[in-house]
Amino acid sequence: MTRTTSPDAMTALPVPDAYLPLLKRLGLDSSVRCDPDWSAAPDFLELIANHVLAAQPATLVECSSGLTTLVLARCCEMNGIGQVFSLENGAEYADNTRTEIARYGLEARATIIDAPLSTQMVNGTEFLWYELGDLPELRIDMLVIDGPPGFIQRHSRYPAVPRLFDRLAEGGVVFMDDAARADEREIVGMWLARFPALQHEYIDTERGCSILRTQHRD
Ligand SMILES: C[S@@+](CC[C@H](N)C(=O)[O-])C[C@H]1O[C@@H](n2cnc3c(N)ncnc32)[C@H](O)[C@@H]1O
Repeated sequence: MTRTTSPDAMTALPVPDAYLPLLKRLGLDSSVRCDPDWSAAPDFLELIANHVLAAQPATLVECSSGLTTLVLARCCEMNGIGQVFSLENGAEYADNTRTEIARYGLEARATIIDAPLSTQMVNGTEFLWYELGDLPELRIDMLVIDGPPGFIQRHSRYPAVPRLFDRLAEGGVVFMDDAARADEREIVGMWLARFPALQHEYIDTERGCSILRTQHRD
């Protein structure tokens, strides 16, 4: 889909009706900040919420912040366990998400990390990707990939798995949004070629969701 650059849009748009059932289920209201062009779609949010509520992950890492952060943090709060670390390259978007997290009293469940994009060599190719210096060294139970934006470069989300694979916990699960796009399909193929132990499941959501599972080493 084509996404326009409109940083103020998140403060102005009403939440589309399709988001309301999930928001209600999570005890969130219709005043949440949502930009249908940039926020994750309701069916992707429902998938990640269902996983958090069922699997009760302790450590969640996210590439990009926004409505996903709020949903993940709220599910952790409902579980009574779990903390989200959200990598965000845009200072304004990071502040918006922090404001939203604070508005719902979820500060203990989500940390939005200012993570500017820097040139990084991954598998012999240069990518602009998040600086990881402020991300704590923790085992990651759930990784949600919804950034950096695709317009920045080809295979923009590719570095996420190579850079974080060694930090994935046993049984760790990766969710990538927008997996119906050609670029993201290629990225999944590159991950599976590099990390054959990953198991891939594609869910036919509005924008496509790729789920990759690490194998238990027992
Ligand atoms: C696809 S957005 C996803 C954000 C988040 N996962 C969510 O569901 O709300 C990925 C990134 O795009 C950037 N972004 C968000 N809104 C934007 C806008 N209106 N214009 C340009 N970039 C935007 C932010 O840096 C964000 O991390």
